[in-house]
Amino acid sequence: MCGIVGFIGGQDAKEILLKGLEKLEYRGYDSAGIAVQSNSGVVVSKEKGRIAQLREIVDTSIEASIGIGHTRWATHGVPSKVNAHPHQSTSQRFTLVHNGVIENYELLKREYLQDVTFVSETDTEVIVHLLEKHVQEGAHVEEAFRQTLKLLHGSYALAMLDNENPGVIYVAKNKSPLLVGVGDNFNVVASDAMAMLQVTNQFIELMDKEMVLVTENSITIKNLAGSIVERAPFTAELDASDIEKGTYAHFMLKEIDEQPLVVRNIISKYRNEAGEVELSEDIRNAILESDRIYIIAAGTSYHAGLVGKQLIENFAKIPVEVHVASEFSYNMPLLTEKPFFIYISQSGETADSRAVLVQTNEMGYKSLTVTNVPGSTLSREADYTLLLHAGPEIAVASTKAYTAQLAVLAILAADIAKAKGHSVGLDLTKELGIIANTMEVLCGQKEEMEKIAQEYLATTRNCFFIGRGVDFYVGLEGALKLKEISYIQAEGFAGGELKHGTIALIENGTPVIALATQAHVNLGIRGNMKEVVARGANPCTISMKGLEMEGDRFVIPAVHEMLSPLASVIPLQLISYYAALHRECDVDKPRNLAKSVTVE
Ligand code: F6R
Repeated sequence: MCGIVGFIGGQDAKEILLKGLEKLEYRGYDSAGIAVQSNSGVVVSKEKGRIAQLREIVDTSIEASIGIGHTRWATHGVPSKVNAHPHQSTSQRFTLVHNGVIENYELLKREYLQDVTFVSETDTEVIVHLLEKHVQEGAHVEEAFRQTLKLLHGSYALAMLDNENPGVIYVAKNKSPLLVGVGDNFNVVASDAMAMLQVTNQFIELMDKEMVLVTENSITIKNLAGSIVERAPFTAELDASDIEKGTYAHFMLKEIDEQPLVVRNIISKYRNEAGEVELSEDIRNAILESDRIYIIAAGTSYHAGLVGKQLIENFAKIPVEVHVASEFSYNMPLLTEKPFFIYISQSGETADSRAVLVQTNEMGYKSLTVTNVPGSTLSREADYTLLLHAGPEIAVASTKAYTAQLAVLAILAADIAKAKGHSVGLDLTKELGIIANTMEVLCGQKEEMEKIAQEYLATTRNCFFIGRGVDFYVGLEGALKLKEISYIQAEGFAGGELKHGTIALIENGTPVIALATQAHVNLGIRGNMKEVVARGANPCTISMKGLEMEGDRFVIPAVHEMLSPLASVIPLQLISYYAALHRECDVDKPRNLAKSVTVE
């Protein structure tokens, strides 16, 4: 993961880099560093911990208008000052930040760098030493950079300073996201446009295996053969206020509250002139040509895919398989004759999903990316894109992207059903409107959610979520939310499956949260709750109006059963939020995680 930034121009680089890194902290936050080019040479400041800790050690008196920066999510080497970026070559001529993984770094060390003393445990350090080696062997710096890039296997977004050529930032990209931003008498580099919105909204996309020489007044993109590539900038459609918390204590709470708005936004973006939500014709036709849909995703997006399968199979009558991306890439099932791939990814950058997309592209199969980030790697590399229109999701725990994914998948399912002449038995535009209103009601019941969190989760070490049908899938998502931000061991199970082993874990007082929003399995899930209560569990049933029974802890307003996950997930998100808050966890930046997982 990790995030990188660079700045070159007539302003104080330190502050711009630090502010940029703060916006990229969602990509990793276990250590950070910057390097600035001052009159007396490159000065590196780095520290274990967050950007706030880095700020404390940066010497504010240094004058520098060129620099690079990095916020890290450790892959090779523990989080520490020494493993933090930037890394320098032995002579300290070259200083580099890197996002990605150099897969062949050990081989490169053995083959080319036997005499070099490495100071860190990172894969990154080989890059600066290789550069120096090529320069020592007579290559000029640009050629040395190119030669080095050609040796690297894996993913990289790089920014490099050369102490002897202080007017240039050397940049390169392969697989990891990277943009060059265009300013008036300055230019910038960033893993994500959000980092540099403070100074520009004009960005140039970089493609894999491109390198760029960035100066104050020029941006020269070249491929690895050395030929110049021309590419026009685009305007990042982001509002700086979208990436601020405003009056909220946490991004997660803000993003939970934004969900009604996001669903309404989706309705308006996908509505046709007749007022109905629909897909574009090219996407519809591509799906209609297929005999099976394969949904590929990770984490929360995978959970959205599970609900999506139910929607598509029920409405559109096309068989759907849902696969965890990291497994699918090396454990591919037997595919049908005409598969269609749907990649679900909030960030559009998840490396596990991208690895599958690269494979299915090579196999010649059509694909669609459902993502929140226009222009993201998965969006660019798939044939089609459906945008979530949810606005930037900053909290590491995904909330509004999940419900947006469900809404977009419902639109897809209903559209294909209509094209195939199947009745879905609901007016989706109207039902999504009801969902948005229901979400608003649920978001207004925070006090009740806080009470539930305190009552059930204040001191527990574990918690189970059970449900049947789509409630099971929402339970998986509830469990993921709870464990990632509160560190409570939480697991989601199909109600009927508990008795096949997991029920052994139920002890006196173990919280079991059940969802009961599906009429056809209401009695089944009630029976499963009785089984756990008989073994001492502390039961918390969240049911839907019309299906409620005595003793239910919370009742959500009635919505269409097929769309209930869009509503029933909200209490689970809020309960997780308050559980984490009361356990004094870092809600927006849970330990060991990063928002955008760009390593496989
Ligand atoms: C959980 C969470 C992760 C992501 C997963 C996939 O709250 O955010 O599980 O869902 O890393 O990320 P995207 O959707 O960006 O591909």
